[in-house]
Amino acid sequence: MEKKIPVVVIKELGETEKILSALRNYGIHCAEITFRTACAEEAIRLACKTFPDMEIGAGTVINAEQCERAIEAGAKFIVSPGLSEGVAAVCKEKGTPYYPGCVTPTEIMKALELGITTVKFFPANVYGGLKAMKALAAPFPQIKFIPTGGVNNDNLEEFLSWDKIAAVGGSFFVEEALKQA
Ligand code: 3PG
Repeated sequence: MEKKIPVVVIKELGETEKILSALRNYGIHCAEITFRTACAEEAIRLACKTFPDMEIGAGTVINAEQCERAIEAGAKFIVSPGLSEGVAAVCKEKGTPYYPGCVTPTEIMKALELGITTVKFFPANVYGGLKAMKALAAPFPQIKFIPTGGVNNDNLEEFLSWDKIAAVGGSFFVEEALKQA
């Protein structure tokens, strides 16, 4: 998986190409298109068609119905702010990787019961960042994290340098890419 996952919010379908091109030119071949806007599903479909070389996933997927729609539109991975057993079941059935948000031991235990070993750690800056993830890694050595929320150029490298980090997520990748576009 890509180590940098930009959290993308597409307000209008017409922005899809501009944002995805900017990310690709910036060297990021991945995008988590969030189900926060009415056009998210269409944006995923368009992104998969226009940028077949990029790994397009869906974020902010909070129920099984959205998950079905996201995968049907072409999403290659699914991210949630928390853990949904309904979303997990759809992903398992479709063979699509699922990264649920887990910040407590209980949530991580639930993820493990569902066969999930990579979790989103969100909001990373609020729930203790690297220090908290390192403490959680002691009882859960099999878990890898995707810290998201408050990640920026000042702390990105610190996150990426720890071997339990599967990837880092953030909206700032989009801002940086657009600045250079
Ligand atoms: C998310 O949904 O993952 C967050 O909104 C991303 O947080 P950030 O804007 O601090 O990167």
